[in-house]
Amino acid sequence: MSIRFDKETKNFYLETPNTSYIIGVVEDKYLFHAHYGKKIAFMPSCDSLAKAHTSSYSVVNSDSYEKLGIRGDNILLDFSTFGSADFRTPSFHARYENGSTVTQLWYNGYKIFKGKPTLKGLPATYTESDDEATTLEIYLKDAISGLEAVLCYTTFEKYDAIARSVRYINNGTQCIYLKSVMSATVDLPDMNYEFINLAGTHARERHINNTKLSHTKIEVSSAKGTTSHIQNNFVALARPETTEESGEVYGFSLVYSGNFVAGVDVNGQDTTRVYMGINPHDFCWKLNSGEDFQSPEAVLVYSSDGLGKMSRTYHSLYRSRICRGKYRDAERPVLINNWEATYFDFNEDKIVSIAEKAKSAGIDLMVLDDGWFGKRNDDTTSLGDWYEDKNKLPKGLENLAKRVNDLGMQFGLWFEPEMVSEDSDLFRAHPDWCIGVPGREMSVGRNQYVLDLSRKDVCDYIVNAVSDVLHRANITYVKWDMNRYISEVGSLAYPSDQQGEIAHRYVLGLYDVLERITTTFPNVLFEGCSGGGGRFDPAMLYYSPQIWTSDNTDAIERMYIQHGTSMVYPVSSMGSHVSAVPNHQVGRTTPISLRGNVAMAGQLGYELDLNKLSEDDFNQVIEQVKFYKRIRKTVHYGDMYRIRSPYDKSTQNTVWQFVSEDKNQVVLFDYTMECKVNPSLDHIKLQGLDINALYELEETGEVFGGDYLMNFGITAIHRYEYTNKVYVFNRLA
Ligand code: DGJ
Repeated sequence: MSIRFDKETKNFYLETPNTSYIIGVVEDKYLFHAHYGKKIAFMPSCDSLAKAHTSSYSVVNSDSYEKLGIRGDNILLDFSTFGSADFRTPSFHARYENGSTVTQLWYNGYKIFKGKPTLKGLPATYTESDDEATTLEIYLKDAISGLEAVLCYTTFEKYDAIARSVRYINNGTQCIYLKSVMSATVDLPDMNYEFINLAGTHARERHINNTKLSHTKIEVSSAKGTTSHIQNNFVALARPETTEESGEVYGFSLVYSGNFVAGVDVNGQDTTRVYMGINPHDFCWKLNSGEDFQSPEAVLVYSSDGLGKMSRTYHSLYRSRICRGKYRDAERPVLINNWEATYFDFNEDKIVSIAEKAKSAGIDLMVLDDGWFGKRNDDTTSLGDWYEDKNKLPKGLENLAKRVNDLGMQFGLWFEPEMVSEDSDLFRAHPDWCIGVPGREMSVGRNQYVLDLSRKDVCDYIVNAVSDVLHRANITYVKWDMNRYISEVGSLAYPSDQQGEIAHRYVLGLYDVLERITTTFPNVLFEGCSGGGGRFDPAMLYYSPQIWTSDNTDAIERMYIQHGTSMVYPVSSMGSHVSAVPNHQVGRTTPISLRGNVAMAGQLGYELDLNKLSEDDFNQVIEQVKFYKRIRKTVHYGDMYRIRSPYDKSTQNTVWQFVSEDKNQVVLFDYTMECKVNPSLDHIKLQGLDINALYELEETGEVFGGDYLMNFGITAIHRYEYTNKVYVFNRLA
């Protein structure tokens, strides 16, 4: 797909397989946002369109808007700064040495080239060869300050996605304080949308929220130093009539793991500005003469075929061009984790006995969670002291890893490297290594402080401490946890006029640490975690192709969480475990079949002591692991169709369907959430099949036409709570 500039009309055409994004240069100054949606091959000059779009009435107009008769507050822009009669949330805001906060970044040329550049210090979508993408850089310049902006747009050959970011370069002589840096702003001509966001809290992450747009600003954000459980850095605007299968929707996803903002600003004339970027709250970056600043990347997806199509675009882009390394494509081990089985109370023999039983069920990897280091028998101590607790592991990690390996299993380990306990050797040696403000109280979260990753020496310490352990024992999996938010933001390593940089510098430090460790250990599978799914974002997927989705392992709660998460993230990225009942988070008892089948719509793992299961349940585990290994390719790399939503209270069930890329295999999970006395027969209509092909149902050998399965559907009855079924259809040659 291409990007081109039409010299006559001064329009940029950005094309993906099914979408067009058109920007017009107006008056040789402004970037007019002309269109984002279905394909358009030609568009007249935006000069006249810009005029037509605005009313002649104006309260305050800048000179040049006045010339065009454009009302500055109403024109649809692709980039906007404070200080040009546009009073909406700007793309950029800065303060100059004379105290002014007015910026006028005007058009100053462009470049179009094949491929996609990397973003300095930040994760982003990538290409493996230059023909996979085309990039447009639009240059803007503020003549007074010498500030320059490079707006970067990449279109992909295969994906209906546009990646946007901005780089600011201080080519002036003064220092500039950046106060607000958006990765993307997009103005849409009307306000007939619903705002969709993924919200929640610990153990209830990424529940789907819908809010109708009105003349009230809607904004989601994090000021917690990390993405957070409370709001995810993904939002969408969907037409009210949009469903899973039809209707227009725009998705906006930020490749970032720190303080973010995403919102919509509807103006008096009903146009909608969407904005997404670093949260300006408490952000201030000092940009000295000659320096540059790179914004994170926002990934935009437009679908005219409903939410399902939008999600599938994000899924395929993120699983193949955000995730990296060996485990991007390789099948990942089925794991067993000891956390809910033992919490802090374990020793070497106990772990080996869990591993032995797991091995007999076909499980590949034993993960030792929190509590193996320092003298950590609860969460009050030892973070930072990354050496074995010899009371629990007298012969060290090496011996435990060897015993697990001797069973024919891999061995994995939990770390929380960004944290330090007050009661730790590390804190006693380096109290200055914490995020905090001298003289002020430091809040504790789970009895711990946050290490100051804005400092190079702290980052080096973490890289060395984790690497030492990984070099010493045969560890092929790491769970990288982060269990508190960042408060009292400040660093002893930076002067007063750079304290507004610390939250962002923390994130840059984290990315540097992760880049160094994942590069040194390319064969280790990393799983991100943050008190469950508190840092589930595309940037973390760049370093860890899977993330622990939530500390809530209850099968029913997981349907809401995994359904919401799948709005943007592929199921291959969701760590999903079967745990014991009654469930430790909500006390609910569900059958092992339901727990297994829900976890299979993710990266299947177990988090319980299998020795304590009944024989019947254990036999089901053996079958689950076998079955999962047979169908997981379709689930992880196929297309996902959300046929029934747990949020839809008019039905009793959740249904997720996966179709392999070649449409040869279909896997459908049907979970009954609630029972209803005398329910009617449910017709579950499949999607995405070859309508002309015949499909055989594995379980019974019955053969159905693709048209039958899609237009009539399979019939099911949801009489009993928590009953559930998996259907596998194979296409007949
Ligand atoms: C939070 C994680 O989400 C859990 O899975 C577990 O690893 C605990 N931390 C350990 O402290």
